[in-house]
Amino acid sequence: MSFVNFTLRPFRKGDEPSLAASINDKKIERYTQNIPYPYTAADARQWVSRNLKLDRDKTSNEKNFVVDIEGRVAGSVGLSGICGHRAELGYWLGVEYWGQGIVTEAVKMVTRYAFKELGLRRVYAHVVPANKASARVLEKAGYKYEGLLRKHAMKRGKTFGLLLYAKIR
Ligand SMILES: CC(C)(COP(=O)(O)OP(=O)(O)OC[C@H]1O[C@@H](n2cnc3c(N)ncnc32)[C@H](O)[C@@H]1OP(=O)(O)O)[C@@H](O)C(=O)NCCC(=O)NCCS
Repeated sequence: MSFVNFTLRPFRKGDEPSLAASINDKKIERYTQNIPYPYTAADARQWVSRNLKLDRDKTSNEKNFVVDIEGRVAGSVGLSGICGHRAELGYWLGVEYWGQGIVTEAVKMVTRYAFKELGLRRVYAHVVPANKASARVLEKAGYKYEGLLRKHAMKRGKTFGLLLYAKIR
């Protein structure tokens, strides 16, 4: 499959405007747990500054990469809750870039990084059942479905289940 050229890199100062422009979409908020809509300039400033701190901290348990297209933040793939031999994977991509295989490729790269560079043995992800594109990304990247976590998440006072996917080494 051919896809738009992208690179993965850490967040940096100056990313705030393109981050806010790419992420500020109800279609991204809908299936994620911690991304607000509307996503304000202040949210973007806070997120970039948080990541600059995380990247300086060698003991940090979180690592977020920018999906960079022509110098702009098009999306992000990250590892959080890095603890012992495992971590949780999360990702999003600006709507204009959907359907080109970008996140599948980026997830493969970050999973390789987790296993090879961080020495992890298990990377897992939670997916809202209606989010077929996300489940497909994980399957294409070699993740296996492990089950339904009942009432695992809560948003606006409503609980809902999440599908658990993982890749092990
Ligand atoms: C999920 C998301 C990251 C996918 O990014 P992407 O770069 O478009 O994904 P890819 O192009 O690599 O792969 C998408 C796959 O899902 C498939 N797909 C898309 N919509 C689908 C649908 N409604 N039903 C079934 N499959 C679907 C595509 O056809 C493709 O599979 P294919 O290559 O076999 O044809 C993107 O849609 C997104 O940011 N969504 C909002 C945030 C989000 O859901 N984050 C993940 C939380 S777990």
